[in-house]
Amino acid sequence: MPSTYVPGRSAEEVARVYGINPEAIIKLGSNENALGPSPKAIEAIKKHIQDISIYPSPGYTDLKDAIAGYIGAAAEHIVVGNGSDDLLNTLLRYIIERNDEAIITIPTYSYYETIVEAARGKCVFVNRTPSFSIDVEQIVAAITKKTKLIFVCSPNNPTGNSIDRETLEHLLQSTNALVVLDEAYVEFASESLVEFTNHFDNLLVSRTFSKAFGLAGLRLGYAVLNEDLARSYNRLMLAFSVNQLAVNAGIAVLSDLSFLHETVAMVEQGRTYLREHLPLKTYPTDANFIFADVAPHTSYEVAEYLVRQGIIIRNCETFRGCSHSHVRITVGKPWQNAKLLEVLDTFVRTER
Ligand SMILES: Cc1ncc(COP(=O)(O)O)c(C=O)c1O
Repeated sequence: MPSTYVPGRSAEEVARVYGINPEAIIKLGSNENALGPSPKAIEAIKKHIQDISIYPSPGYTDLKDAIAGYIGAAAEHIVVGNGSDDLLNTLLRYIIERNDEAIITIPTYSYYETIVEAARGKCVFVNRTPSFSIDVEQIVAAITKKTKLIFVCSPNNPTGNSIDRETLEHLLQSTNALVVLDEAYVEFASESLVEFTNHFDNLLVSRTFSKAFGLAGLRLGYAVLNEDLARSYNRLMLAFSVNQLAVNAGIAVLSDLSFLHETVAMVEQGRTYLREHLPLKTYPTDANFIFADVAPHTSYEVAEYLVRQGIIIRNCETFRGCSHSHVRITVGKPWQNAKLLEVLDTFVRTER
């Protein structure tokens, strides 16, 4: 089956299709930040708006220094991209040759499949365990001479669980392939494993400003990786793929982490509240979303019912390895979470 990365539905599309006022739509389908963008980013964009007539500074030194300070890695090990999707897409074209293999631990973020195929590589799928953790022995069994990459998302989209230190270490010691650890949601988890890049040359950790910093529409991502690979990426990336406003907004949000802390506190409270009250089977989560099983209903039925009431959630049936009853729900503001519960309670009472 060819891969189909299906992005979450937009408010514009839902407003058009269902005739709903776009202002009234509650968007809990794409794991964006319910608090919006960091105010520091808005300030920086206003301040630097005149700079859009000027190319960004080549090398992105100031931005890399700011990221280096934030995550505690050396700037030479950091690369930046127009979102982490763009960064990985660019890097894969360098790493993967025709028919090289990439192991993808499913269910997980579907975009990996798309970029491996775009680079003419072959995807090899390894199932996560019933509790969605990584089974290193199964991964090792799937490794061949052609394996170039192993994707691990942590916290994992859509299941919300994280890989632990021992498992990552075991995996890195078991292979020479490059392990891509996607930490897009790590700010919502208890710890990052980025420090492992100091000890393992075969680890790349990718991160983004799209989630906890609220900058999904601006497009800014980065990765920490070994210096050789970083140099190759820098030669390969489009010279100015990160724009001037993203550079300044990125530096600004890292200079004051109060918005990040506010976001994380809201998400921690919201996910506890939702897990306690959702009338669905839910799974533990370290991210800003909750993975749930809506059986005996289908994910389509539930997502469709909610969207008609103006609430967008993610029907996970297009995620390889998910069932037809899995959904993913972004943690919203308290009033949005309460509205979601109200509508879902009505669904459960009336649709059985
Ligand atoms: C696991 C994961 N990685 C990466 C991304 C995309 O990040 P970016 O916006 O930096 O391209 C997403 C977005 O949903 C994601 O869920």
